[in-house]
Amino acid sequence: MRILAISGSAREASTNTALLRGIESLAPEGVEFLVFHELNVLPIFSPDFEGEKTPTVVNEFMETISVADGIIISSPEYIRAIPGGLKNAIDWMVSRSEVVGKPIALVHASHRGDDMLASLRLVLSTVSDNFMENIFLRAPLIGKSPKEIEDFIRNSENKLQIPTFLSSFLGAIQQIDSQA
Ligand SMILES: Cc1cc2nc3c(=O)[nH]c(=O)nc-3n(C[C@H](O)[C@H](O)[C@H](O)COP(=O)(O)O)c2cc1C
Repeated sequence: MRILAISGSAREASTNTALLRGIESLAPEGVEFLVFHELNVLPIFSPDFEGEKTPTVVNEFMETISVADGIIISSPEYIRAIPGGLKNAIDWMVSRSEVVGKPIALVHASHRGDDMLASLRLVLSTVSDNFMENIFLRAPLIGKSPKEIEDFIRNSENKLQIPTFLSSFLGAIQQIDSQA
């Protein structure tokens, strides 16, 4: 099974990217995990550059979506909203086929950001029939370094429910596949 994990932050020491890497480190055997944290490489979406004019970098990104069995997104809140880079990536997806029906779940590396989460849930449930709103993981990682996050995730006293989140999401994907 292939999981694409998209970080809504292109920041090098991103807490959201670090959370996705932590989830990757706990993925069961047989699950191929790709953490994508370079939404800043995608040009600004315009309908004038769809179809044959689609930039190569966008087509490459869409190919990683196409081959993924499921997508996990972790994003910061910027000015009470979805960061422009992540919204831009979703704008590129919307008139294409790759994301339709794709299982998607959210994780979030902050105790804040509920306005962004509400908006992102609305957007994702619009672009995919299989956005799984009820499968969600949140961790209070704001201000921590990637190393601190790695340690936080390893420390079982923090009771981060990553294995439960992963088994719920992977199980839901298998169920969808078995019904196809
Ligand atoms: C431009 C900008 C706007 C932000 N706006 C908000 C906000 O509206 N609400 C909030 O809780 N945090 C806000 N933050 C803080 C980030 O969400 C927070 O630092 C987050 O941990 C960054 O994620 P990252 O570590 O993955 O880059 C903002 C940060 C930036 C850079």
